[in-house]
Amino acid sequence: MKRKYRRVTHQIIEELTTIVGRNNISTNKSETEGYAYDETPLAIPHVPQVIVRPTDTSSIAKLLAFASEKRIPVTPRGAGTGLSGGCTPIYGGIVLSLERMNRILEIDRDNFVAIVEPGVTLSDLCSQVERQGLSYPLYPGEMTATIGGNVATNAGGINAVKYGVTRHHVLGLEAVLPTGEIIKTGGKFVKCSTGYDLTQLIVGSEGTLAVVTKVILKLTTRPAKGEVALIPFANLQNAINAVPEILRLKMTPTGIEFMERGIIEIVEKHLDRELPYHDYEAFLMIIMEGESESEIYEYFSKVDQICKQHGAIETMIPGTERAKRELLDAREKLYPAIRGFAPMEIVDVVVPRSEIAKFVRRVKEIAEEHKMPVVAYGHAGDGNVHLHPICLNMSKEEWNRRLPHLMSDIYRAGVSFGGAISGEHGIGCDKKAYLSIQMDSAHLSIMKTIKRAFDPNNILNPGKIFDL
Ligand code: LAC
Ligand code: ZN
Repeated sequence: MKRKYRRVTHQIIEELTTIVGRNNISTNKSETEGYAYDETPLAIPHVPQVIVRPTDTSSIAKLLAFASEKRIPVTPRGAGTGLSGGCTPIYGGIVLSLERMNRILEIDRDNFVAIVEPGVTLSDLCSQVERQGLSYPLYPGEMTATIGGNVATNAGGINAVKYGVTRHHVLGLEAVLPTGEIIKTGGKFVKCSTGYDLTQLIVGSEGTLAVVTKVILKLTTRPAKGEVALIPFANLQNAINAVPEILRLKMTPTGIEFMERGIIEIVEKHLDRELPYHDYEAFLMIIMEGESESEIYEYFSKVDQICKQHGAIETMIPGTERAKRELLDAREKLYPAIRGFAPMEIVDVVVPRSEIAKFVRRVKEIAEEHKMPVVAYGHAGDGNVHLHPICLNMSKEEWNRRLPHLMSDIYRAGVSFGGAISGEHGIGCDKKAYLSIQMDSAHLSIMKTIKRAFDPNNILNPGKIFDL
């Protein structure tokens, strides 16, 4: 087979060193091995030949122009917390880590805007912005993730019901094209009808079109108080069926999560503590913000009435800050808990909210048909369902062999309910084999044409979303 890409030789390392500086490059195995994967459960590691950690846009521009000319693959990377293999260097070559481009350049209180470099972590962003009395209100769950990674995948998370997802907060970008040219899109404004929207094309493009070097983010103000309620149900269908009615109330909750008993048992083991009402089959967890506790409690009493009509037992609101923190902490730990429990795969299909109950019911039938257990939880308020096929009662080899058939059936079901294969984690390399279940050839073909227009030599994050 003809080699697609040039190998990184000693000579190329020398040239890369001149571009990024001696302190910002490494070929040390102990380091390159750590950049071979992200947090995707079944990831196959691919070790890059070299890691570069540039500190400014102009070095990235030179680096990409050089890599394009020499045909060396470049895989951009944030904190490596992704769940679809988006930053795995599947053709080796260069990993372009943005970890040293981690400055918050400006927080503009008059325009409700922050301008940040891509390597800023969510945790840094949120704390700096909050110090200025403003908020970046998204909570994709992993605060060590970088904003660049969130932009790449269009990360969503728990607060999407009220605040939307990453793309709703990106007003503009500075980005380097694979040819080395630098473009600036959008600005510190919230309306724009000036040409094609390249900001939003690059958001969610998983580092395949350009390397983002600055992000103009929309900030917001937030109500003073936040509370959480846990509502146990006798079964998952009843729990999910209550969601549209809850959403029809005049106040919008920050998040509505659902989880079933299977995942609760796993997280209890992981945390080594019991969760309240853990004998019930299913739960809704509702996060609500308001200006006062009484405003929030009034909302929860309306939610309680709706849920009881759907067979809920009661609405539990933790009485102390600590109990509230423990409840939210249990939700945040679902993924780490299941990761430590058994080999598993993760699904982040999104369906119209009205179809969640039917979709999950269909998935349970599919799991039965394949005799492969699947546990469910997710973002009930926005239709984004997490499913974990788990390897139990069979060998890992057998499970690996059967898994693609199960996954394919799950994705087909999601699409048949009007959904999409990925709601928040991206396609990466993990899901690209399933993309054609959702997209017809005209749709795939226009995406490939766009990729070629940005990256004629196909050096930027090749093999992600689709193969050219
Ligand atoms: C979550 C991650 C897995 O919702 O998206 O916990
Ligand atoms: Zn999620």
